Amino acid sequence: MVAVYRSNGWTHANDPERLRRAIQHSSYNVVAVVGDRVVGYARTLSDEAFAVYIADILVAPDRQGEGIGREITQALLDHYPIDRLHHQVLVAERGAEGFYTRLGMRPVGTFGLTAFIRTREPRP
Ligand SMILES: CC(C)(COP(=O)(O)OP(=O)(O)OC[C@H]1O[C@@H](n2cnc3c(N)ncnc32)[C@H](O)[C@@H]1OP(=O)(O)O)[C@@H](O)C(=O)NCCC(=O)NCCS
Repeated sequence: MVAVYRSNGWTHANDPERLRRAIQHSSYNVVAVVGDRVVGYARTLSDEAFAVYIADILVAPDRQGEGIGREITQALLDHYPIDRLHHQVLVAERGAEGFYTRLGMRPVGTFGLTAFIRTREPRP
């Protein structure tokens, strides 16, 4: 699992114990495996009633563009159908917007809302 974070340059890989804790406390996880290799991973946090937050979605760089990302994200969305919950939400990396709009997600501004975030990590 750490490898798919590392290969995408995500800092989660720098602290495998912290990543293990994050995965352990996630609500629902989807893992894409080819042979004995993890090639994709996605996880959520949810109150199981109103809201689900899609936390991480990653595909190994050499397996991107094969539909794996769509498949694992769709599996999360299907597990938390919008007719049962109030909303599905996520924070997208710059450049990944088109991936999410293809899956039916919309920027919060579409609904007259604004999203706020507080983070200690500097963003370029
Ligand atoms: C974003 C990511 C998860 C997409 O996974 P993937 O397996 O490469 O995507 P898929 O092959 O399933 O693509 C599904 C569709 O989204 C499109 N798509 C994929 N990445 C896209 C992007 N960055 N921008 C716009 N469209 C994108 C594909 O062209 C495809 O379109 P189609 O339905 O017209 O064929 C993957 O590129 C990745 O892991 N990136 C690095 C980590 C990251 O940025 N994660 C998202 C954090 S918010």
